[in-house]
Amino acid sequence: MTAKHKILITGGNGQLSTDLAQVFESRDLVVLTREDLDISQPHQVQEALLHHKPEVVINTAAVTDVDGCEHNVEQAQLVNSQGPQNLVRAAQLTGARVVQISTDYVFDGALDRPYIESDETNPQSIYGQTKLAGEQAMRDTDLIVRTSWLCGLHGSNILKTIVRLAQTDKAMSFVNDQIGHPSFTNDVAVIVRQLVELEAHGVFHVTNQGSVSWYQFAKTILDLMGRPSEQLAEITSDQLEPSRPAPRPANSVLDNKALPTVGLSPPPDFRETLPKLLEVLCE
Ligand SMILES: NC(=O)c1ccc[n+]([C@@H]2O[C@H](COP(=O)([O-])OP(=O)(O)OC[C@H]3O[C@@H](n4cnc5c(N)ncnc54)[C@H](OP(=O)(O)O)[C@@H]3O)[C@@H](O)[C@H]2O)c1
Repeated sequence: MTAKHKILITGGNGQLSTDLAQVFESRDLVVLTREDLDISQPHQVQEALLHHKPEVVINTAAVTDVDGCEHNVEQAQLVNSQGPQNLVRAAQLTGARVVQISTDYVFDGALDRPYIESDETNPQSIYGQTKLAGEQAMRDTDLIVRTSWLCGLHGSNILKTIVRLAQTDKAMSFVNDQIGHPSFTNDVAVIVRQLVELEAHGVFHVTNQGSVSWYQFAKTILDLMGRPSEQLAEITSDQLEPSRPAPRPANSVLDNKALPTVGLSPPPDFRETLPKLLEVLCE
């Protein structure tokens, strides 16, 4: 793919889209926020693709409030399921390829090993179910990138929450019975660009390496910040107060098995990238 090809990114105010916009900035690039393009509106989607004529549409737009989706099923379906369908329909008219960003929540988390791309999906939450429907809207020529536990410098996320709390004396508690791969938007964005340039299609797991529980992730952050471990308590999911409406997979670890088949390496261990992010966040 040469630099003249045009990329269109949806959900332009999100945490991943902001880093994607940075890694694609040398390209002919259009970034559309929800105000510019509501992906749940088929006519708007068609108009935008006919107007901008991108070769590749990267759909980061989603309702990502996992618990909120349980209460607003209709909105979750409109955006997470019908949004990708609208994009594919419009892409059929313009000849664009679609990159759909998806999630570890399409799995039930019951396996006792990391999930590979071809493992059976069985989402337990409305968020996971609607995101799976978004995957199913894709054609064989499109690309699905599943990632997990996303955080970075932009938007609001758990990393920024932990850093903010760690800068106070406030006690925090995190669960020790959900494990996954914390993934940083800047690292994931680099691999998405490489996959787009390779014109890869099908399903790819793209996460930072190093599996931890949420408690272990928070402890790693506090240790790097030099905070006392007494600030942090270890709990189980059923001790969460208030309890969460949406069930979470106990095992969210995604094996990035498909990346080497196209000659790519997975993003680094999260412990490699974390200190660099903390340097910026703790400035
Ligand atoms: N966060 C995670 O831990 C995680 C884990 C795995 C996979 N993912 C997936 O990765 C992708 C990016 O996640 P993220 O954390 O960067 O999300 P994010 O920061 O919540 O950004 C999502 C963006 O989508 C926009 N949006 C919502 N409804 C829309 C609509 N109808 N039309 C157009 N845009 C709309 C939002 O707009 P507003 O800013 O105006 O609300 C927001 O800017 C999502 O597809 C998500 O499902 C996320």
